[in-house]
Amino acid sequence: MTVEAPIDYLVNNAAFGIVGIPLQQYAQGDLSRMVQVNVTALAELTEACVRDMVARGSGRILNVSSISGYVVPHGVECGYAASKAFVVSFSECLAQDLRGTGVTCTHLAPGPTRTEFFDTAGLTDTRRLEPMMMDAAPVARAGYEAMMAGKPACIPGVANKLMRAMMRFAPSRRFTALASGMAVRR
Ligand SMILES: NC(=O)c1ccc[n+]([C@@H]2O[C@H](COP(=O)([O-])OP(=O)(O)OC[C@H]3O[C@@H](n4cnc5c(N)ncnc54)[C@H](OP(=O)(O)O)[C@@H]3O)[C@@H](O)[C@H]2O)c1
Repeated sequence: MTVEAPIDYLVNNAAFGIVGIPLQQYAQGDLSRMVQVNVTALAELTEACVRDMVARGSGRILNVSSISGYVVPHGVECGYAASKAFVVSFSECLAQDLRGTGVTCTHLAPGPTRTEFFDTAGLTDTRRLEPMMMDAAPVARAGYEAMMAGKPACIPGVANKLMRAMMRFAPSRRFTALASGMAVRR
């Protein structure tokens, strides 16, 4: 992929989720489509822009990840959570590689946010997610400010920060999968 015009800001936001069902119940081809949008497109767009940004000595990249990318193993969300784990790792590694170049890479890891996401994912009942749910505006603002400050990562909201911290003390894999899966199980 090549990019013609100089890009100063790249925001990789597009993604969709398959949530609430195990992999064996996905429709044929859905996993591949999700990886294409959430992983391949983000990586290729980043690669296409970063060389020119580094050559010009400036640029800002914001990749939208998810708190799901930190929760391992994540129940009934294996393809989506893994796609977002890629975004977390890719972005954090790239941020280090870019040190001293004038270009920065930030990832924004939201938790449940009021958008079209859950409708698109086919999850009609989001009541169990409500205690963590944030409005889109403050999430977007936090990501924008972190990108402009050149921070490697942004986890918006107290509940999401707590979730991230709790992952360090999760008692067992089984507990983590059950607790995370309960919120989105159909
Ligand atoms: N909402 C949440 O709870 C939540 C939590 C954590 C992370 N995130 C992340 O936040 C980002 C934004 O999602 P959102 O919450 O705003 O969900 P959304 O309202 O469903 O928006 C998703 C966006 O991705 C685009 N998109 C989806 N599939 C695409 C495809 N095949 N090709 C091109 N564009 C495509 C959509 O474009 P169209 O409108 O043209 O379809 C839309 O702009 C995503 O990376 C998502 O993973 C969301």
